[in-house]
Amino acid sequence: MNKRNSKLKSDMNSLEKILQSEAARSFNRKKHLIETNALTVEEIDTIIDTASLLKLQKANNLFPLSLLRTKHIALTFYENSTRTKSSFAIASSNLGANTVNLDINTSSASKGESLEDTARTLTAMGVNAIVQRHSANNSARDLANALADKVAIINAGSGQSAHPTQALLDYFTMLEEKGELTGKRVCILGDTRYSRVARSNVSLLTKMGAQVCLCSPAQLMADDLKSDNITTTKDIREALSGADFVMALRIQLERQDAGIVIDKEEYIKNYQLNYDRLKLASKNVKVLHPGPVVRSLELESALVDDYQYSLIEKQVANGIFVRMAVLALLLSEQCSD
Ligand code: CP
Repeated sequence: MNKRNSKLKSDMNSLEKILQSEAARSFNRKKHLIETNALTVEEIDTIIDTASLLKLQKANNLFPLSLLRTKHIALTFYENSTRTKSSFAIASSNLGANTVNLDINTSSASKGESLEDTARTLTAMGVNAIVQRHSANNSARDLANALADKVAIINAGSGQSAHPTQALLDYFTMLEEKGELTGKRVCILGDTRYSRVARSNVSLLTKMGAQVCLCSPAQLMADDLKSDNITTTKDIREALSGADFVMALRIQLERQDAGIVIDKEEYIKNYQLNYDRLKLASKNVKVLHPGPVVRSLELESALVDDYQYSLIEKQVANGIFVRMAVLALLLSEQCSD
């Protein structure tokens, strides 16, 4: 066997090893992925290790795999999406699974069928996992409770409460830059109040040892996230000081209460992340954004494409491997007891 083939064989063996590990089995027993705070450190490490190995396999032209060859994965997106929906579809295909892409506008949801009945219908057809996005905070949890162990529910974004695969791919991308996050300073900047990305990241990043600071104007501050674990400030200079990562967030107009009015010019003046402000951060600071980016509002436009700072494209690319890892760990028979 030549050196390359031997390496590929050892990568495949490593994947099998991870899938059969205790942490993989423990995540698999949970059946669903609803929010990051339900994950243990070992489970998070296992998802990241799996994603890293899958990324290596992609580099070695090993896709598509046949790990989920007999599985059906339904994508039910009741809210718009470009990144999450497409990357779950590609992740499923890379694992050999079939994807059922439910177009909500032409589905029977438009005739009044409930989320639960839609999910039960798909499950009765033999769907193994439902990847759901919905505007209600408890949508994924309620579905998981209702369907129990009949089908895996993967939360692809629920209201302002959780977006676990986004936080996992953010963490994976940060780890690739710095090796570990213990003691690293992460500034989450902008509309934290209405952000499911902020909530999932705060829970995951603090668990993995990062020092998290939320920086928002008063109207957009996630007061529910204030705790001894994190710092919060309205002062962008204080928040950026020494930051290793800055994660800028979109202002989520679609989730804001009618009473809140954001003056965009004021926001840009006080909170836009630009080159000048980045000088306050650490020398090798990196910039993240979950997307979609509204250029020239939350970020100075040129920063988005400036690869000295921007990890935005890497986040998108890494999303495939993290979602493959989640699907593989939840659905592969190799992980089940
Ligand atoms: N970050 C994210 O969830 O993007 P989409 O809304 O495009 O899926």
